[in-house]
Amino acid sequence: MLIRYKKNFEKIAMGLLSFMPEGKDIKKLQETINNYEKNPDWHLYLWKEEDILGAIGVKIENDINAVIQHISVTPSHRKMGIGKKMVNEIKKMYNEKYAVCPDERTLEFYNKCDENNE
Ligand SMILES: CC(C)(COP(=O)(O)OP(=O)(O)OC[C@H]1O[C@@H](n2cnc3c(N)ncnc32)[C@H](O)[C@@H]1OP(=O)(O)O)[C@@H](O)C(=O)NCCC(=O)NCCS
Repeated sequence: MLIRYKKNFEKIAMGLLSFMPEGKDIKKLQETINNYEKNPDWHLYLWKEEDILGAIGVKIENDINAVIQHISVTPSHRKMGIGKKMVNEIKKMYNEKYAVCPDERTLEFYNKCDENNE
C-alpha cells in the first residue's frame, strides 16, 4: 500500500530516489528530499509491503496539475507490477481534484502503465 513519506523514512527514500537517472548527484537528491519535506505542493509516497519497496513523488502545479515526477522501485522487486500499482494509486488519489500527468522523466513508464490497462 502507499503511505505518506515521513522524516524517519529519509534514508530509505533517498536510496530509492537515487535510482532515478539524475539521482547520483547527492546534493540534488538532498534538495529533492528537502522539497518533499517542506514544500506543501510536493508529495512523496512510499510503497510498503513488509518492507518499503518503492517511492513515487507528485508535484502540484498551479493548483491544476498533479505531475508525477519520481518513480522508483527497489531493484530486487522490479517487474512485479509495483511501479504500475503506485501509478494507479496516485491516479485514483489525485484524479478528482487534479489533472494527473507525468513529467519528462516518468512519461515513458507512465504511458506503459496506461497501455497495460487496455
Ligand atoms: C521504472 C520502474 C519504477 C518500474 O518499476 P516496476 O515495479 O519494475 O514496474 P512494473 O513491474 O509495474 O512494470 C514493469 C514494466 O515496465 C517496463 N519499464 C521499466 N522501466 C521503464 C521505463 N523507463 N519506461 C518504460 N517502461 C519501463 C519494464 O520493462 C516492464 O515491462 P514488461 O511488463 O513489458 O516486461 C523501475 O524499473 C525503476 O525503479 N527504475 C529506476 C528508476 C527510474 O529510472 N525511474 C524513471 C522512470 S519512471
